[in-house]
Amino acid sequence: MPAQDRSQQTLAFFDAEHSADVVNARMGTDISPRFREVMTIMVNHLHAAVKEAKLTTEEWMAGIEFLTKTGHMCTDWRQEFILLSDVLGVSMLVDALNHDRPEGSTENTVLGPFYVSGVPHYANGANICLDGKGEPLLVRGKVTDNDGNPVAGASIDVWATNDDGFYDVQQQGIQPEHNLRGVFTTGADGEYWFRTSKPRYYPIPDDGTVGKLLAALGRHPNRAAHLHFIVTAPGFDTVVTHIFTPDCRYLAEDTVFGVKHSLIADFQQITDPAEAEKAQLPSPFWQVEWDFVLAREEEIQRIRAAKTTA
Ligand code: BEZ
Ligand code: FE
Repeated sequence: MPAQDRSQQTLAFFDAEHSADVVNARMGTDISPRFREVMTIMVNHLHAAVKEAKLTTEEWMAGIEFLTKTGHMCTDWRQEFILLSDVLGVSMLVDALNHDRPEGSTENTVLGPFYVSGVPHYANGANICLDGKGEPLLVRGKVTDNDGNPVAGASIDVWATNDDGFYDVQQQGIQPEHNLRGVFTTGADGEYWFRTSKPRYYPIPDDGTVGKLLAALGRHPNRAAHLHFIVTAPGFDTVVTHIFTPDCRYLAEDTVFGVKHSLIADFQQITDPAEAEKAQLPSPFWQVEWDFVLAREEEIQRIRAAKTTA
C-alpha cells in the first residue's frame, strides 16, 4: 500500500497509538480556526492523560459518574463546575493568563460565586455590617493610577461573609439582606472608607461533588479570610480582587489558590478609645489601610498587543 494511503487509513480507523490524531482528523474544514486549535490541544492532552494514567474502565466510569453528578448539582445559583475549576486551580490560571498588568497594579483573584449586583450604594464611612457580628473593622485607602495620581469617582464594590462564615445569600431569612455588601465611591482625592467586620475563614460549599473530591484528596474546603472587591473607573481596567488578613491559619492553603502575596494586607488592632470614637466603632477595633492601583485600559491593550506579537 502506498505510504499516503497507509497514513490516511491510520487516521480513519482507531488505534491507541494514534488515538488523538484520529479524533482530531474528523474535524470539518469549515470551522472556527481558534475552536480547532483549542479542541486539538484539549483532545491531545486528554488522550495523553488517559494513556499516562493507564486508566481502567472502572476509573473512567467513576469519572463519568462524578461529572454527571457535578452537572446535576448545577442550578441558576449553584455552579459546581466553576467550583471544580476553582479547587483545581484552573480559575486562577485562566485569570492569571488574562490579566497581565503593569508592575505595581493591584492584582486580580477569583470572583467566586457570591457576588451580587445591584447592592446599596453608600456614602463613605457607612457600616455594612448589618448583623453586628464579629470584630469591628475600619477599611480605608485610596484608588490611584500607576503614577500615584488619585482616581476620583472610582466605584468600590465590596462583599464578605459574616462572622459565622456565610454570605447573606447563603442565609436568606437569617442574615439581613445585603449584609456585608455595598458600593462606595472615591472622592476627589481618590479616598474611600467604610466600616465592616473583620473577615474570617470559611468553607466553600462542600455538600456536593467538589466537597467529596476535596475529602477524597485529603484537602480541607477552607478559604483564607478575605474581603472581596470589584474596583471600576472609566478608562481603567476593572480589578476583581480580595484583601487577605495576614493572621489566618489558611493563608498558605486557600482551597481555591486565590491568595497572592501582594494581596495580604496589614490589619492593625487599635486599642486607643479616642480612635474608636473617631471611627465610630467600639474599642478595640481593627483597621486596614489599602490602596488600589488601577491600570489604564490603553496600557492593558498595549501589553496584550505586545504579547500576541511576541
Ligand atoms: C469566594 O470567595 O466567595 C469563593 C471563591 C471560590 C469558590 C467559592 C467561594
Ligand atoms: Fe469569598
